[in-house]
Amino acid sequence: MAIERAGVVGSGLMGSGIAEVLARAGLDVVVRDISEEAIASGRTSIEKSLEKGVQRGKLSAEDRDAALARLHFTVDMADFADRQLVIEAASENEDVKKAIFAELDTVVTAKDAILASNTSSMPIIRFAQATGRPDRVLGIHFFNPAPVQPLVELVVSELTDPAVVDAMDSFATDVLGKVTIRASDRPGFVVNALLIPFLFSAIRMVEAGHATKEDVDLGMVNGCAHPMGPIALADRVGLDTCLFVGQSIYEETGDPAAKPPVLLSRMVDAGLLGVKTGRGFYDYSAT
Ligand SMILES: NC(=O)c1ccc[n+]([C@@H]2O[C@H](COP(=O)([O-])OP(=O)(O)OC[C@H]3O[C@@H](n4cnc5c(N)ncnc54)[C@H](O)[C@@H]3O)[C@@H](O)[C@H]2O)c1
Repeated sequence: MAIERAGVVGSGLMGSGIAEVLARAGLDVVVRDISEEAIASGRTSIEKSLEKGVQRGKLSAEDRDAALARLHFTVDMADFADRQLVIEAASENEDVKKAIFAELDTVVTAKDAILASNTSSMPIIRFAQATGRPDRVLGIHFFNPAPVQPLVELVVSELTDPAVVDAMDSFATDVLGKVTIRASDRPGFVVNALLIPFLFSAIRMVEAGHATKEDVDLGMVNGCAHPMGPIALADRVGLDTCLFVGQSIYEETGDPAAKPPVLLSRMVDAGLLGVKTGRGFYDYSAT
């Protein structure tokens, strides 16, 4: 089945990025959020991102206009009725996501349509079980910013039909131009299961006074050819996101490496979330 009509639930950071990827790949895309304000903000961020693409010579003005024309914004879930693929990228809240999947199950008419979640930390099977078609549900985990980061993790639940995974693999690589990896439905999938303990080790090193944050970052950039150090990367990911993903890995696995450092929790309590709030481990207020 050639996928031509897609839907995205949520027009926040990830939803708008995913919608842009789909529209640029030539799909007709319905984007749903819960308020006109959220939709307006999602539309603006897609417009800005496309404009940036034009300025950097990555796409033509005609392609930008064509991508925008393929995007339709709505607050109505019923507008997903004729979709062949819907990717849920709503807020990281299990009850919200379960309710969305239950509603998608009743609204999306084609029984072979694929329902996917972009969750970073929640078991896909719980959303699959909220539908009457758990075999058609999988995780499609994009990375921020979705139009730039090549990777997509395909998360396979205990009940996902292997043919659905194969179809999404071909779609993500051939149509969206992404690099895919497959992961089982386990906390952190592949990337966060490796990344979060690494970031936490770096934060613990700073917390213990073993090295400064600048030296930890310089060490990994200049000693291991990382494009940025782990402390700067944690700021970029968002310290609240790091905390949340770490907590969910730790709760399920008990892996002490995924236990959030106290310093991280306190910084999140203080609202110091990294780049997005202008201050985390580093100060971004001047940038
Ligand atoms: N931020 C990241 O770096 C990142 C990376 C990969 C995956 N994710 C995952 O992507 C998802 C979205 O994260 P985000 O960073 O874009 O969050 P965000 O807060 O920027 O956006 C979430 C959006 O969902 C909307 N929403 C809430 N309930 C909704 C509903 N019932 N229907 C439609 N829209 C609804 C909100 O209004 C908001 O606009 C989460 O599951 C997160 O774990 C995030």
